Amino acid sequence: MWQGLLRHYRSYLPLTDDTPLITLLEGNTPLIYAERLSDMLEAEVYFKFEGLNPTGSFKDRGMVMAVAKAMEEGSRTIMCASTGNTSASAAAYAARAGLRCIVLIPNKKIAVGKLAQAVIYGAEVIAIDGNFDQALKFVREITSSYPITLVNSVNPYRIEGQKTAAFEVCDALGEAPDILAIPVGNAGNIAAYWKGFKEYRERGKTDTLPKMWGFEAEGAAAITKGQVIEHPETVATAIRIGNPASWEKAAAAATESAGFIGMVSDEDILEAYRFMAAEEGVFAEPASAASVAGVLKQHREGKLQPGDRVVCVITGNGLKDPDTAIDAVSVTPKVVSGNLSEVLQAIGVERGD
Ligand code: F0G
Repeated sequence: MWQGLLRHYRSYLPLTDDTPLITLLEGNTPLIYAERLSDMLEAEVYFKFEGLNPTGSFKDRGMVMAVAKAMEEGSRTIMCASTGNTSASAAAYAARAGLRCIVLIPNKKIAVGKLAQAVIYGAEVIAIDGNFDQALKFVREITSSYPITLVNSVNPYRIEGQKTAAFEVCDALGEAPDILAIPVGNAGNIAAYWKGFKEYRERGKTDTLPKMWGFEAEGAAAITKGQVIEHPETVATAIRIGNPASWEKAAAAATESAGFIGMVSDEDILEAYRFMAAEEGVFAEPASAASVAGVLKQHREGKLQPGDRVVCVITGNGLKDPDTAIDAVSVTPKVVSGNLSEVLQAIGVERGD
């Protein structure tokens, strides 16, 4: 029976006898074969669907580790800046652990489901007139001056927990894929996967390593463009970040793995977002679709080899951002009166058909 990340990957994580093995049974997410996409690209494409974690994103892997260590160290309060998912995850694990949780978010720029999560799990939510980068700066200042634990991915325990997703990918495939495609925002997750793949190889669990392909949103593509973006903008609010904290680690992952970090437009993201839901039955949030959008773009540019085995990390659940889903399709529900014949007419069949 699955017992959660800390127990399952105990020998790979910096745990001590005093670390409380808290869990919401995070991790152990499915690797789903993408049939239509594989046909289209003449490749073998899978989705690592991290949207099926307890709070609906990959953040739970890192958060369980960061919160367990905060408890071990005797901390009573955790704090983060967030574009939404980190705050939802921090709030849930703080609730589980009995800790106070304070989150700083960019006002009106996080998906409604994520805000609902942070609030219902009992976090203290502060919305600033500013973006994620500014919020993270405040959080770093506050947590360095007060007895509050920072749980953004600059906390190394977050990366430790998140690296376990790479282990699961290797276990499911028997070795690392040729390519690992992943959205890049604050750039912690790409660094975590790369660390995970390398450690798994050191332990003899995979002979190969993947090329790491990271994808930023075009309006927030600091690493791709090689410059801080003062006013990042994208429909993929989760990765609306102009000065990624793990910039160097992400760049190193791309270089060491013979991969790269590139960018995709909002149009590409929304196209991939609709495709994944309508053609593959996987409803992801827009930021997550950046990985699929990136692979489609690479294919268009002739940079995908036939037969390549590609894993796209689907970082968050589409249910978190219903507004974008409703805006993304032009079709609205037909409204009919409450009688059967009108319903039949609406679906194009007549009585007696
Ligand atoms: N996908 C989703 C759904 C995210 O929420 C994030 C980051 C990323 C991708 C990018 O991951 O930052 O490790 O490069 N969300 C953070 C948050 C910033 O506050 O929830 P990254």
